Amino acid sequence: MPRSNLAKKILDAGNVPKHVAVIMDGNGRWANRRGQPRSEGHEAGVEAVKAVVQAASVIGVEILTLYTFSVDNWKRPRSEVAAIMRLLYDKARSELNELNQNNVKLIATGHIDGLPVTRRNALKHAIKSTSRNTGLILNLALNYGGRTEILQAVKRIARDVELGKLTISGIDEGLFSSYLYTSGLPDPDLLIRTSGEKRLSNFLLWQTSYTELYITDILWPDFTSDDFFRAVLEFQNRERRFGELSRH
Ligand code: IPE
Ligand code: IPE
Ligand code: MG
Repeated sequence: MPRSNLAKKILDAGNVPKHVAVIMDGNGRWANRRGQPRSEGHEAGVEAVKAVVQAASVIGVEILTLYTFSVDNWKRPRSEVAAIMRLLYDKARSELNELNQNNVKLIATGHIDGLPVTRRNALKHAIKSTSRNTGLILNLALNYGGRTEILQAVKRIARDVELGKLTISGIDEGLFSSYLYTSGLPDPDLLIRTSGEKRLSNFLLWQTSYTELYITDILWPDFTSDDFFRAVLEFQNRERRFGELSRH
């Protein structure tokens, strides 16, 4: 991908976000506006994923977490859920070479064992096959729910206390984070949500305490690499204070 002017500006400014998370929203509306079935919107959304993966790699983002399917998305019509799962399966296979060529390491965050077995196996195969890549970490949040994640952490911590592996006084923020699905990953610096909704929709509830939020009305299938760069440029102009006083 040729380096756009926006990418150059980002690199000149330094302070590239290490971890960018994205709520990829608006696929259904994109399809509706074209009089197409919602599944076409999801299909078109994959092209935006590819563009953003490239863009994130170009500017040296280390981790890109994409909200791909939430625990609450099972409530959608069966046919839509099946279309999304099939897309996951197809792309995990057809994009594997591309991921490896681009040195992208695929990981997943969420209740992965709750995915249908053939879909899960294709995902696991892709994860294994890219595990030695050293470039961008592409983290798919799949069957993910922030509250589910926190509850499973609480239960596992309680069990470890019961087993005597942990003491209550040993439970601090660092330890709690290590029981989350995202264990070992830094918190997102920047969270982008497309299609204009101003909510987290159960995404990374613990991890986004001090994440910078960027909301755009652009529907996910229309989101381009330059749109991604614009979000990062805005991030670079924000002052993160983490509760402290301004440095200026
Ligand atoms: C996001 O787009 C993709 C998933 C939730 C899988 P939507 O399908 O939510 O699209 P809208 O919000 O209905 O337009
Ligand atoms: C969030 O979008 C989930 C994903 C993008 C995978 P939703 O479309 O499910 O969220 P709501 O229903 O608008 O809150
Ligand atoms: Mg939506």
